[in-house]
Amino acid sequence: VHPTAARRPYPIVVQSENTSYSDEYITSKFTNRGADVVASDGQFIVKPTSKPYEFQTARKVSKTGLMLIGMGGNNGTTLCATVLANRHNISWHTKSGVQQPNYIGSVLRASTVRLGTEPGTGKDVHIPISDVLPMVHPNDLVLGGWDISGLPMDKAMHRAEVLDWDLQRQVAPHIAALGSPLPSIYYPDFIAANQEARADNVIPGKDKQKHLERIRSDIRKFKADNQLDRVVVFWTANTERYSEIIPGVNDTADNILAAIKSSHSEVSPSTVFAVAAILEGEPFVNGAPQNTFVPGVIELAERQKSFIGGDDLKSGQTKLKSVFAEFLVNAGIKPLSIASYNHLGNNDGHNLSAEPQFKSKEISKSSVVDDMVAANRLLFKSPEEGAVKGTKAAKGEHPDHIVVIKYVPAVGDSKRAIDEYYSEIFCGGRSTINIFNECEDSLLATPLILDLTILTELLTRVQYRDASTQAEFSPLYPVLSLLSYMLKAPLVKPGKCLLSHSFEIAFCLMCLSL
Ligand code: NAI
Repeated sequence: VHPTAARRPYPIVVQSENTSYSDEYITSKFTNRGADVVASDGQFIVKPTSKPYEFQTARKVSKTGLMLIGMGGNNGTTLCATVLANRHNISWHTKSGVQQPNYIGSVLRASTVRLGTEPGTGKDVHIPISDVLPMVHPNDLVLGGWDISGLPMDKAMHRAEVLDWDLQRQVAPHIAALGSPLPSIYYPDFIAANQEARADNVIPGKDKQKHLERIRSDIRKFKADNQLDRVVVFWTANTERYSEIIPGVNDTADNILAAIKSSHSEVSPSTVFAVAAILEGEPFVNGAPQNTFVPGVIELAERQKSFIGGDDLKSGQTKLKSVFAEFLVNAGIKPLSIASYNHLGNNDGHNLSAEPQFKSKEISKSSVVDDMVAANRLLFKSPEEGAVKGTKAAKGEHPDHIVVIKYVPAVGDSKRAIDEYYSEIFCGGRSTINIFNECEDSLLATPLILDLTILTELLTRVQYRDASTQAEFSPLYPVLSLLSYMLKAPLVKPGKCLLSHSFEIAFCLMCLSL
């Protein structure tokens, strides 16, 4: 039990007939209100719906390990160093003074939620999101993982050139204790050729079944050695090219297992890792854009009832874009083009300078405005509306949207992103808004990786039932679309829509029935 939890068994006590507490569970009733809408003779017939659900959240937080694939990279080393700095309370000198470690940028650790108002004064009462339900504290995560580069972690942190020297100097003995990352799977065809020089720590041979078994045994050993209840396996390695979806190879659970057995060339390292985690019953999150979750992997996760989430961390430019494009469209302004340029000089940028890996990122970054456009047919004509076959409008109107990424070594981890929003305004007018965004890439990504890990662990402890039809609770659906807020190209259950920006918060509150 986390020390804070021991001191305060219930940071929040909801006094309502809908919420009950036991030593083991927080149980809450929640009514999901919506509407069925049918278009008929030019009218929309709306029938309100309401479905009663019951949620049960196990209160005991799992002792959790985080195994990073790409542990020796910029994100991997930054995450390990900053967690260790927080855990050991290491402060460091910068040119502007003494800096304390913190978790700024983490939704779970650094943002609050409004619980209600104080009777009498009418003042709003806000609490940290991490107090809403029992969650792992990032300081308590047991860290480990793999990398195709075998550089010891202190030297890998130095290579990343992300953290201030005084922090690196002090954290070095702690991060060095993590040793070198475990050897990993390297199929040169999937990442850029410019990464080859790093690959000095690879599991030998070309037998993909043996690779799968090795990764499974690494997960089991890490879990046993550290006496963990749960291991979250997280891809923060280089972006791979897309895998081709080939019927008979990666389209079903049995086919992907057979394709690994026969060492089929279209099975990527990230897919082998995802399959290993699924078969071990441990959650797998994909922080990069490639299609690790080919249809066969999703089916396998469903069959094994094992949790998966992805794809691609939504940290800087894309986060702002999803907020800003939604703001424009909801204000009745019509974006005609969105042109996004990035340049960065870290190893991720080097890898993305190769065309197939850039393509994966481009796809992931491009999908972000589609939902807003589809939601406003006043501004953007639908494919059906008066479109001449074969013309651009036949696909439905859409802003021109381009994404350019260039590798500029000099700027290192400090990514620059320039976005031009060119929009139609009232009666033929035009508006141009330019946004210039400059930030240390890995310092944006690290809190997201932590949030995704902590939320994933929480979701493994939540069960629910449809109170009108089911007597027993069952786990959540294996594809954790609740993680969407932090991901660029969210993986959701086929046929289901995306969730709102504040869904995690809504979800946490739902689990308390507030
Ligand atoms: P990085 O290049 O510094 O680190 C990646 C690490 O992965 C390297 O150490 C490399 O040796 C290792 N690696 C490559 N293939 C591997 C394999 N098969 N198994 C194990 N290790 C392998 O990159 P960075 O900046 O840490 O980014 C990591 C990933 O996160 C990239 O795919 C990037 O696109 C993605 N990402 C990063 C964001 C950010 O803001 N930093 C935002 C969104 C996604």
